[in-house]
Amino acid sequence: MARSLILISAAFARWTQIAPLTITEAPSSTLRADIYIRFMSMGPTEDVYAFTNMIADGLALSSGLINITFNDDFAWNDDRLFNYTAVHEIGHALGLSHSKVEPAIMFPFFEGVIRPIHPDDQAGIHSVYGWKNPRWSRIDSNVASKGVIQISSASGAVSTLDGLYQLRSTGQILRYNPSGTWTSVDNNKDTIQISGSNNFLYQRHTDGTIWKLTAGSSTWQQISPASSNVIDISAAADQVYMRRKDGWVARYSGSGQTWLTIAQPSAPGSRQLAASDSATLWNLLANGDVVRSEYPYTSDGWQVVDSNPSNIAIAVGGEEFYKLQSDGSVVWLDSTEWFWRTIEEGGSVAVYAVGSFVYSRHEDGSVWRYTGSPGVWEMLDGRADAVVVVGDRKGGVWEMVSGGDIYRLVS
Ligand SMILES: *[C@@H]1O[C@H](CO)[C@@H](O)[C@H](O)[C@H]1NC(C)=O
Ligand SMILES: *[C@@H]1O[C@H](CO)[C@@H](O)[C@H](O)[C@H]1NC(C)=O
Ligand SMILES: [Zn+2]
Repeated sequence: MARSLILISAAFARWTQIAPLTITEAPSSTLRADIYIRFMSMGPTEDVYAFTNMIADGLALSSGLINITFNDDFAWNDDRLFNYTAVHEIGHALGLSHSKVEPAIMFPFFEGVIRPIHPDDQAGIHSVYGWKNPRWSRIDSNVASKGVIQISSASGAVSTLDGLYQLRSTGQILRYNPSGTWTSVDNNKDTIQISGSNNFLYQRHTDGTIWKLTAGSSTWQQISPASSNVIDISAAADQVYMRRKDGWVARYSGSGQTWLTIAQPSAPGSRQLAASDSATLWNLLANGDVVRSEYPYTSDGWQVVDSNPSNIAIAVGGEEFYKLQSDGSVVWLDSTEWFWRTIEEGGSVAVYAVGSFVYSRHEDGSVWRYTGSPGVWEMLDGRADAVVVVGDRKGGVWEMVSGGDIYRLVS
């Protein structure tokens, strides 16, 4: 299969899916195709997979002057490697140079890692060709839409509950089917919040009760008694956490209606919780302190990571931690060096992370995606009315705008 035309076409499609480009195979009688693909002997080395060359005057390319050459001596037994190499070389043929962003396909070194298309690759192709039109596709229009969440389980925990959900102001919960329809999951006027991760979807009622739906089941199980002490819930990894008015946080024990209180290192209440794939719990306290604790969160397990009154929000994607400061900057914690790195200078009012993706919403309502280079973000929506942005671990992005319309990012 490797080296087949089908794989070459699929590799071209990876770029044409996200950019307004049409690429068709030229018949062999064509005198001058734009891009030639050829196989040439370069020796049986694992260092040279392929290369792309072109003749350009620095301003324009003429057709017929781009060659993608694969090493014919290399044993192309692995379709995934051939496809990956082709996607990288086609990136060059379409005008992209190498990236400094290590997880990007346009990173110059293969290092044995077959990478998915990265925001940096997307920002690159968009900067050359622009976007498909329309760039967003509307998937719902209802003034009662109140919010959207995405359940996107970590690999190994992929669940039938994975997907996009919306909560309406009527209390109804609906799930989006990729075919374009919405299915009602529950319809209870008391529901005021939903959250979910891995195998579970949760809803919180006005009376403080919390209910759990398990993947593969159709009945909701009550997991918390009525209480006026509950502020909100947040699900992450295989856990669900609760913030309480008395300033404490708690997590569900996993059975009955029992929650376990997690003592905090200092007195102020919690402003926001976020947890990593390995269930490390991050807690932004009301005074701006950021503390973290590893499962199962003993009272002496908290570590104060940052003390800064200007911290106003936190986000966790995979194992990576981000914080938003009141000056609109987004700061990432480089945990290999325990170093804070500003990845956005200002303008942000909300940060959202999922898997390896990070999104920022600006005060003007625009939505941005981080490319992996500090300071470099791609604008995804400039219509200036986004109120919620969510994504999945494969790079899918959805937004709800003021007025309740929900959109899916196409390009
Ligand atoms: C592309 O390959 C052809 C031979 O297959 C060669 O004649 C041509 O010079 C090459 N073009 C570039 C830009 O290297
Ligand atoms: C080809 O590689 C790209 C980038 O890794 C990936 O997104 C795509 O799914 C692959 N396609 C096939 C047919 O393997
Ligand atoms: Zn290259």
